[in-house]
This record gives sequence, C-alpha cells and structure tokens, in this order.
Amino acid sequence: MIIAVDGPVAAGKGTLARRIAAHYNLEYLDTGALYRAVGLKLIRDGHDPHDKVAAVDAARHVGDVRLDGPALRNEATGEAASIVAANHGVRAALLQYQRDFAQNKGGAVLDGRDIGTVVCPDADVKLFVTASAEVRARRRFDELVAKGVETTFEAVLEDLQARDARDMSRGAAPLKKADDAHLLDTSKLDIEAAVTAACMIIDAA
Ligand code: CDP
Repeated sequence: MIIAVDGPVAAGKGTLARRIAAHYNLEYLDTGALYRAVGLKLIRDGHDPHDKVAAVDAARHVGDVRLDGPALRNEATGEAASIVAANHGVRAALLQYQRDFAQNKGGAVLDGRDIGTVVCPDADVKLFVTASAEVRARRRFDELVAKGVETTFEAVLEDLQARDARDMSRGAAPLKKADDAHLLDTSKLDIEAAVTAACMIIDAA
C-alpha cells in the first residue's frame, strides 16, 4: 500500500501524512526534508543554492545532514530547498532513495510535490492537499510566531506565493495535481476533519 500526498507550501501535508501513516500502520517519509537538507548543507558550506554543481554534490552527500535539527525547518532553509528543487541533477540524486523507501514491505506514505506524478506514479491512493494562500500563510505565520520568529503576515504570504510560483513553474517535476489524485481542500477543515476526510478517501480506495 503506497499513499502519495502532494500539495503546496504549508497545506498541512506533513501533519496529515504522519497521521495517515500512524492510522494505517505504514512508514512515513517527508520528502521535503531531503530538499531542505540539501539547501541547508549548501548554506552551511557557504555555497549559493543557485550553484548547480555544488547543489548536486550536496544532494549526493545529503546523508551527512541530520534530518531532525531545528535549522531544517527555518524559512531560509525552505527558500534554499525550493531553489535546489528546480535543479534536475538534485532531483535525480534524491529519486532512488524515495522510490526504495516507497517499496518498504509494510507499505509507505510519502509527502512532497511530485510523489503522485514522478516518484510513485503507481501509488494506490494519491491525495492533493491544498488550501487558499491566505489560510496557508496564516497557519505558517502562527507556527513561526509560536517559535518566537519575528515576522509579519504579509511577509509570510509573499514568501509562500513566491515559493509556490517557483515550485509550479519549474521544468523539473513541477508541483501539480496528478490526474488520478483526490483533491482535498483543507481551507475550512481543522486537522481532525482533514484526517477523517483523507481516511474516507483511502478506505473507499
Ligand atoms: O513544509 P513546506 O510546505 O514549507 O515545504 P517542504 O515540504 O518542507 O518542501 C520544501 C521545498 O522542497 C518545497 O518548496 C519544494 O520546492 C521542494 N520539494 C520538492 O520539490 N519536491 C518534493 N517532493 C518535496 C519538496
């Protein structure tokens, strides 16, 4: 059983995918963390995320980066992740790891941007999770404020729209809903309601 969860920035994919994995007893992979790790490695090594050669080299050594440190989650890392994610060589370097993970015997849930379209086109269930830009920016803003980050709602909204535009317009595995994915708009759903809606789709499948 492979479940693909895709969607734009701060749509709630991570929380939802984690809850689905726990509910169906499946392994979970946050593929965004891999792109974040590449971005973070470049920042730490003093490279520009636009440096294509350095980015591919960082992707090949992404195993050196801890995937649970707080720096992985900050906005500068997210921005760098979205820049390296447009690099074909970086995506190619990360692809096999994600496919191998998906083949885990007990089944797996992967969340990202291209799981249903590129990484696991044959997934048993595909969800495309979204919400309005304002709702997503509000959620990300609240998260940042709770972490003590000083920012404004407008700045968060602007960053989110820039990152979505980059993710959707790139040539390499752009963010888009797979034709056979179920659309789940969480603009008016809290996490419990979103989990219930997702489980109904999965059970029906
Ligand atoms: O949590 P958030 O929505 O901010 O983003 P994320 O899932 O951590 O992903 C960070 C960035 O990695 C995204 O903006 C994408 O550019 C890139 N990404 C990707 O291209 N493909 C994936 N499968 C996952 C993430």
